[in-house]
Order: sequence, then structure tokens, then C-alpha cells
Amino acid sequence: MAPLASRLFLVVLALVRAFSATAKPHYTGVLSFGDSLADTGNELARTGGGLASVPPYGETFFGHPTGRASDGRVVLDFIVEALGMPSPKPYFAGKTAADFRRGVNFAYGGSTALGPEFFLSRGLRSFVPVSLANQTAWFKNVVQLAGSEQEQRKLTATMLVMMGEMGINDYLVAITGKLSDGEIRTFVPHIVRAIRDVVTDVIGAGAKTVVVRGMIPLGCQPQMLALFEGTGAAYSRATGCLTRLNDLARLHNRALMRMVLDLRRAHRGTAILYADQYDPVAAIVLSPRKYGFGDRPLAACCGRSGTYNFDSNYATFCGVAGATTCTNPSKYVSWDGIHMTDAANWHVAGAVLRSTMLRQTPPTADLASS
Ligand SMILES: *[C@@H]1O[C@H](CO)[C@@H](O)[C@H](O)[C@H]1NC(C)=O
Repeated sequence: MAPLASRLFLVVLALVRAFSATAKPHYTGVLSFGDSLADTGNELARTGGGLASVPPYGETFFGHPTGRASDGRVVLDFIVEALGMPSPKPYFAGKTAADFRRGVNFAYGGSTALGPEFFLSRGLRSFVPVSLANQTAWFKNVVQLAGSEQEQRKLTATMLVMMGEMGINDYLVAITGKLSDGEIRTFVPHIVRAIRDVVTDVIGAGAKTVVVRGMIPLGCQPQMLALFEGTGAAYSRATGCLTRLNDLARLHNRALMRMVLDLRRAHRGTAILYADQYDPVAAIVLSPRKYGFGDRPLAACCGRSGTYNFDSNYATFCGVAGATTCTNPSKYVSWDGIHMTDAANWHVAGAVLRSTMLRQTPPTADLASS
């Protein structure tokens, strides 16, 4: 293990030992921030449409589209289920304090970490008008509904905060905008800063446990692979993934881990955990059979024929006439070229739970006295 990672691991271990000694109440729910990897119905509820609003999205688990960008559950679903919590209410599907009492999901499909002004200043444009600044404003709206200041703090203190993954869309805007590697790398500190700002805000509002989820291997995504097919890009010999984008994802994750360590020093009363989502996906792509997947870990299940079953012109995206769906999604890592299958999400959720050692009786710090 790299020194930073191993140091981080020891800190996590110490934290979990310290907290698990005392039996404390379960989390009442989850507060989630993110993009389409964690959206459980916000884009659908707000716009009535969006990518994941049409079949075959949802075909494996829910049996119908739910706004989740998968054939079934997203990583967040498996985590809340494992911790015995209800599915959080998508922010745009609720109104009252009662609606949000058992958790809220602010994650929104296409959301960037950074605001539109950041992209405009670089001659770029984000895909949807939602950033972490919006999600923070929505969080504050929900907190307001809770009533007295004491009630507000209690709401936040008894929830498990799940942040991210965030940043994929920011990098995608840069990549499709044809920025150079060097220019794209300058985005990293800005994105990490935006994530840090949200975490700082939720801690300020009373949060006691925050999990920061890291970036998945961007260079193993069918969308990226299709985008760079035939451009002479460098590939990993072991996996066939794009080297430069996996390097970017790792750079992002290292910056994220450093940020988490910094925040811990500043906020001793809150458990701030980093959850790796890179290695679990990379491990499946490297040895798909070992994990029960088929021999095309770099191809989308749902899409259009080609090396990666992904139409880089986005004309024949999953859900659109002309796209086809594989017969057994559980053999595929990628569902639509951008988002993972129910099967792959299950694996990632397991890794998140193991690496953060969240339990059904979770490491909530002393809630009674907060
Ligand atoms: C997000 O915030 C920006 C800037 O305040 C605003 O223009 C935009 O409408 C917001 N988006 C949503 C969906 O509320």
C-alpha cells in the first residue's frame, strides 16, 4: 500500500475501534450528494424525463425505470439496505419535513462539482444546470424544514452523509471540450475544493459521520474508450483501459484522500471516512470471471454494436430506438457505457462498506451530547 493509503487505513481502523465500543442508535437515514451514479430519481422527478426514465433502465431489479442510471440498484441503494436504512427520498420527490425524516438524496444526474461560471471562464459549458452549490442549497432547505435549531442539528447529526462520487461530469466536460491532460489536471484541486466545501457545510450543520466516495476508473468506461478509439491513446496492457484517464482518476483520489485527512484534523468530533471505489472496479475489469462477470468487462450491456457497444456520437444511447440490450446484464460491468450494472454496483457497495467498516450499529459519535 502507498504510505498515504496505509496511514489512512490505520486512522480509519482506530476510528472504528473507538466508536464501535459504544452501542449507539442506528442512523435514521442517509443524506446523499452526487451525480447520476447516485441519483435515485431527482432528475426524473424534476424534469419528468432524463436518461434513466425509459426502459430498459430498471429492468433487472425494479422492473421499470425509476430514474436510476442502471438496470437495477445503484451503489447507494445497496449501502442503505445493508445498514438497515430506508431508501432516501429524492429531494425533488418530497416537500415536507416528514418526507425527508428518513433520509434525503440530493444527487442529480449530470451534476458537476463546479458551477457553470468555472466552465464558462474556460470556454466550456456544463451539461445540466446543477452543481454541488445547488445541492448544498437544497440541503439547507431540508434542514430549515426540521424546525428549531436543535431539531435541525439533530436531523443532520443522526444521518449518515454520503458524498459522491463527484467530478466525473466535470472531467467529462473538460475531456469532450478537448482540453489537454495538463489543463484537465488543473481541475482536480477545484473539484476537490468544491467537495470539501459541502462536507464542511454539513459538518457545520451537525453531521457526525461523513463518507467521501472516490472516483471510479474513468479509463475503463466504455464511453471514454469509444471516445478515444482510434486516436492512438495509450492503453493498459493488463486491462485495455485508457492509461491517461485512469491516471487522472487516481490523481483525483489522492487529492481527495489528502483533503479527508485535512478535514479530520480540523473536525475531531466527526468521523470522516474515505471510501475507495477505484480498486473494486479495477479488480473486476482485470479478472472478470473471478467475480462472476463475463469476458467483455469493457463493453456496455445496453447500447450499440462496436468494440465497446457504445455510440460515441450519443445518437444510439441505451434506451433509444436502435440500441440493444445484452441478455444477461449481470455478466457486464457497465450497463450503458457510463453507469454500472446492478451486479457491478453490488460489488462496489460491498467494497465501500468494508473499507469504511460501517456497521448496522454505526460509528455515530456521541449523539446525545451533540
Ligand atoms: C442551480 O443554481 C444556479 C445558480 O444559482 C441556477 O441558475 C440554477 O437554476 C440552479 N439549478 C436548479 C435545478 O435549481
